[in-house]
Amino acid sequence: MHRSDPKFQGRIVHVNLGRRSYPIYIGSHILPDFGPFFTQNCPSKHAIVVTDDNVKPIYAEMLLNSLAEQNLESHLVSVPPGESSKQMAVLEHLYDKMFDFAAERSDCVIALGGGVIGDLAGFLAATFKRGLNFVQVPTSLLAMVDSSIGGKTGINHPRGKNMIGSFYQPKMVFADTDTLKTLPPRELGCGLAETVKHAIIRDAGFFATLEQNTQAVTTLQKNTLIDLVERNCQIKAAVVSADEHEAGLRGILNLGHTVGHAIETTLKNLDFHHGEAVSLGIVAALRLALSRKLLDERSAQKILLLLQKLQLPTHIQGPINSADLYQAMLQDKKVKHGKINFVLPTGIGSCDFINDLSEPEILTAVDSLTQPAT
Ligand SMILES: NC(=O)c1ccc[n+]([C@@H]2O[C@H](COP(=O)([O-])OP(=O)(O)OC[C@H]3O[C@@H](n4cnc5c(N)ncnc54)[C@H](O)[C@@H]3O)[C@@H](O)[C@H]2O)c1
Ligand SMILES: [Zn+2]
Repeated sequence: MHRSDPKFQGRIVHVNLGRRSYPIYIGSHILPDFGPFFTQNCPSKHAIVVTDDNVKPIYAEMLLNSLAEQNLESHLVSVPPGESSKQMAVLEHLYDKMFDFAAERSDCVIALGGGVIGDLAGFLAATFKRGLNFVQVPTSLLAMVDSSIGGKTGINHPRGKNMIGSFYQPKMVFADTDTLKTLPPRELGCGLAETVKHAIIRDAGFFATLEQNTQAVTTLQKNTLIDLVERNCQIKAAVVSADEHEAGLRGILNLGHTVGHAIETTLKNLDFHHGEAVSLGIVAALRLALSRKLLDERSAQKILLLLQKLQLPTHIQGPINSADLYQAMLQDKKVKHGKINFVLPTGIGSCDFINDLSEPEILTAVDSLTQPAT
């Protein structure tokens, strides 16, 4: 899975999906050298770079220059930052831009930004003229460790998160960890929530490393960050390679997301970002696992403590309507025959699917989120 490339001064993780396999490049200050790796992995001569208004002034020029150095034509389009850009009206605007740029099927859409841009631009690439080449240049930690890998693309519907979308793999992922220097601390935390999720479901050793390095992570120590992004990518790539379309195993990546998505859909006024909602969803999963005696108290405490040390939310201030949250969970893509399918931790480094939780059990766990976690 991990081999070194003579020309690349960094780490490479491979996502193995037969003819749709692709490399993830990870390194510090690699964005100025994007062009040669783009031409190595993508045959397009014309790129449409999609970004947001926060990322554009900081990184777009660097990326466009490195494409120009390879004599590649490029166009840039920027959308407002934030989750609200993952909607049909913004996608329609991007389709219009694709016509303006005379985009052809042999061209490439490059997503430069966080998970919002990756999901939106990926769905644009998947659907415009039935599919163009696609490349991910993640600039948020969440996008580097999670959303840029595995090919899930899409937008939201007013009645549910990520409800309109497709599986569409990129030709490569190019993650420059130096871009994290300009990422707001709150957004760094969102990527750390997905990181804790990966450690809980798959890797006790990685969990212990995180416990020991919270300071180095939150202060963006270069090598710690590169190690962290690489390990996350290895975990996600292994799961995606085993089950690309989520027939089974890939579902474990939804730990914390059943409740997390319901929080994002239902508690819009509290403005939780995706990773923060996932952190709360992990806490709800811990409570359910404890009540079912699937998880020991000590492991649950360690997970809670790590989330708190990483400054992630572990409880919700203010009243919530757990019945509304339950209704939102019933809209989840993972609901089968009216049963909500939960991923619950069974230890640090392991988890299981549980689909026979009763409504009262779920409501109790959700209600407990309003109690400060101890
Ligand atoms: N496709 C998947 O498999 C998958 C997995 C997890 C999450 N997601 C999706 O990802 C989205 C969340 O992604 P996100 O947390 O990256 O959100 P985001 O894209 O909104 O980025 C967070 C904020 O950081 C800013 N930003 C990004 N990079 C920056 C940088 N280097 N410097 C300064 N500012 C920067 C953005 O402009 C934005 O304001 C959600 O929509 C979620 O559903 C998808
Ligand atoms: Zn997520």
